[in-house]
Amino acid sequence: MSRPPAAELRDLVRFAKRARRRAVAPFSGFKVGAALVTRAGEIVTGCNIENASYGLTLCAERTAVFKAVSEGPLRFRAIAVVADSERVAAPCGPCRQILWEFCGDIWVHMENLEGVKQTLRMSELLPLPFDRRSL
Ligand code: THU
Repeated sequence: MSRPPAAELRDLVRFAKRARRRAVAPFSGFKVGAALVTRAGEIVTGCNIENASYGLTLCAERTAVFKAVSEGPLRFRAIAVVADSERVAAPCGPCRQILWEFCGDIWVHMENLEGVKQTLRMSELLPLPFDRRSL
């Protein structure tokens, strides 16, 4: 799967930024938006959703993946993740696991609000994954 063109990533970032505005992050104050694109070009967005128990927080990436999978079956190409962080916001460990298992070796485009960006493949973010082949 070749790297998505810059214009497609820019578009995906616009969707992720829009989703980020819907983040529910009263406890951390850290808002994250994600936009997942399928191989057919459909876009599914997600934001982080916190709650008073803290531990039941759902990250933006997993919100997007679970929304998409519940509407699926879909095959994915890339995800954009946007946060207001100094460096780019890389997906957390649990999100890497879920992205790998449900989306495979997609492109992960990470960008902050200042336009600092990095695009890596899932296999670079999770080089020795545990998945169904490990069972
Ligand atoms: N968060 C995400 O949405 N994605 C990540 O990959 C890392 C963390 C959220 C969870 C929590 O609401 C806030 O960022 C602070 O950890």
